[in-house]
Amino acid sequence: MNCLQSWPEPIVRVQSLSDSGIRAIPKRYVKGPSDRPSPLVESSAGSDVQIPVIDLQKTLDSIATACREWGFFQVVNHGVSHELMARTREVWREFFHLPLEEKQQYANSPSTYEGYGSRLGVEKGAKLDWSDYFFLHYLPTSLRDQNKWPKLPSSCRELVGKYNEELVKLCGKLTKILSLNLGLKEEYLQQAFGGEEVGACLRINFYPKCPQPDLTLGLSSHSDPGGMTLLLPDENVAGLQVRRARKWITVKPVPNAFIVNIGDQIQVLSNARYRSVEHRVIVNSVKERVSLAFFYNPRGDLLVQPAPELVAEDSPALYSPMTYNEYRVFIRTRGPCGKSQVESLKSPK
Ligand code: OGA
Ligand code: NI
Repeated sequence: MNCLQSWPEPIVRVQSLSDSGIRAIPKRYVKGPSDRPSPLVESSAGSDVQIPVIDLQKTLDSIATACREWGFFQVVNHGVSHELMARTREVWREFFHLPLEEKQQYANSPSTYEGYGSRLGVEKGAKLDWSDYFFLHYLPTSLRDQNKWPKLPSSCRELVGKYNEELVKLCGKLTKILSLNLGLKEEYLQQAFGGEEVGACLRINFYPKCPQPDLTLGLSSHSDPGGMTLLLPDENVAGLQVRRARKWITVKPVPNAFIVNIGDQIQVLSNARYRSVEHRVIVNSVKERVSLAFFYNPRGDLLVQPAPELVAEDSPALYSPMTYNEYRVFIRTRGPCGKSQVESLKSPK
């Protein structure tokens, strides 16, 4: 017969034994000396040693604080290959060192800004910034045209494709975190940006050495008009400054980090729970600087407006709906002007 059919001895409920008030436990429960809970073993481990406690909320909280209080943060261990980051930045440095004629074939116009450019805004006689740039579209794919990306250096197109692909993934992760932190559904921001059909573009900024850096700026004060920006700064040359109250804080780039910042569209969508923050770039007389700004934006033709979940009687919608295509005409016409645009959008109360 199978020994698993019944118990070999009568069952005693331990609870009854305990409740009976006995002072000594029955022999059957007394273990051999080496099997008893040894005070020696316990004290050698020390009572303060414990298995790890992991607070899954901690990273979310530190991102929420950075978004609320700074609008800027640096992210490390982001999953993007450090080698890919460095190679992409260096291939762009090489591009800017190509002969002028080679670069001129990509000269841009203010209608799309795509290509090789040296100014933002079309105001005649405006003060200019000490920088050149290259601007290209990645998403939606209908706007992507690799023929408009530099053919030289020969690895440029491939690296840009790979780099942008990785950054789209990282932005997907970050928008989830920001949505949750705002008390929205994880997918909220991604959906508000157009789901699969988000906008994404890359601007490579080149800040040449400047003989009189005290008299100019590499990029005038502005907030980024789009959703969220991931900036890959130059490794050893600081230049980005972030406005904190009435001071400008120079960002010290952490090796292999991305600098993340909130753009105007997240300010609108979050009904100003998060605000885009003004920033600018200073130049120097000793070293050129290259930076890659990846802009993750709402698709151009979608209406962007405060999330209904963040609108209530005591926190009315601060902004009227507007598409990103309409919105970005402003910076494309007037050039960088601090936060004047998003502030001017405030709907009258
Ligand atoms: C930008 C920008 C900063 C930098 O391209 O919008 O803010 O450090 N760039 O180049
Ligand atoms: Ni910017």
